[in-house]
Amino acid sequence: MILITGGRGAIATELLALLHADGLRLRVGSARPADLSPPPGVETVALDLTDPTTFPAALAGVTSVFLYASAERVTEFAEHAHRAGVAHVVVLSSSGVLGMLGPEPKDDALAASHLAVERALLDSPIETTLLRPGSFASNASAWAWPVRAGRPVSLPFPGAHTDPVHERDVAEAAHAVLTDPRHRGGRFTLTGPESLTFAEQIDRLAAVTGLAVVHEHVTPEQWKKETAGHIPDAYADALLAWWRSTDGRPVALTGTVEELTGHPARSFTAWAADHIADFTGS
Ligand SMILES: NC(=O)c1ccc[n+]([C@@H]2O[C@H](COP(=O)([O-])OP(=O)(O)OC[C@H]3O[C@@H](n4cnc5c(N)ncnc54)[C@H](OP(=O)(O)O)[C@@H]3O)[C@@H](O)[C@H]2O)c1
Repeated sequence: MILITGGRGAIATELLALLHADGLRLRVGSARPADLSPPPGVETVALDLTDPTTFPAALAGVTSVFLYASAERVTEFAEHAHRAGVAHVVVLSSSGVLGMLGPEPKDDALAASHLAVERALLDSPIETTLLRPGSFASNASAWAWPVRAGRPVSLPFPGAHTDPVHERDVAEAAHAVLTDPRHRGGRFTLTGPESLTFAEQIDRLAAVTGLAVVHEHVTPEQWKKETAGHIPDAYADALLAWWRSTDGRPVALTGTVEELTGHPARSFTAWAADHIADFTGS
């Protein structure tokens, strides 16, 4: 049986549908299982990755796990998983860890937490496969509210590059590594097909939606103030430091999505077209 953690998340939801189509035995875990609506035949279980009392029931009878990166209790999760007989874990990590693998540890709370999860699993006896996506295209969903309100999108670094990767491509890559034994134990950096600045992403959204989507260049301090209710301070600082480091500097791209899925990575324009209703409200 395969356990998919973080069940309410976008990647978990897409992955569940792909694995279900294969007819595999599946269990989906979430901190709020009552909010899940899985396909018929899929078990649901309460699984809070910060609460080890929820681990035994979630892991009973499980052989493979798709794991969201939650660092707080990850060593205990790995121990429980090993005891339960789990043979393979696929970690949804982040390409942010790549900047931390050298001799100089960087001060980046987001990447540090993903790296801690990678290390805990790699140090365990369980075979571990690492998926390291770059920026999700779906981060642009945060712009839906100002776009729908007819307001400019606040950007502290309009010229910062990211490599927007479609959530379906990440889910398809996860499906490939969970179902094809040739990929087990691999480390895969997933990017979208192009490096785009935030300003270019705004332009693509305008072209796809037909709306006058524009951005306003704000200071990092203004942006932190605006997002204070949604993004913890340490993560906001990590994001700002990362965008500062990619300001005017294209991100290195990989062909890993195509290697794992058999098709080129979907573009940001394709993502925007798939999510047009979020921005237009219709
Ligand atoms: N965003 C990026 O650019 C990026 C890049 C690289 C890696 N990652 C990593 O990928 C993972 C997923 O990132 P994400 O930003 O796309 O997050 P997400 O899928 O929207 O949510 C992550 C998890 O938060 C929980 N959650 C809490 N409240 C929720 C709600 N109202 N709706 C949906 N889920 C909710 C869910 O787990 P439960 O169902 O168990 O509560 C969910 O799986 C994270 O570990 C992130 O660090 C993200």
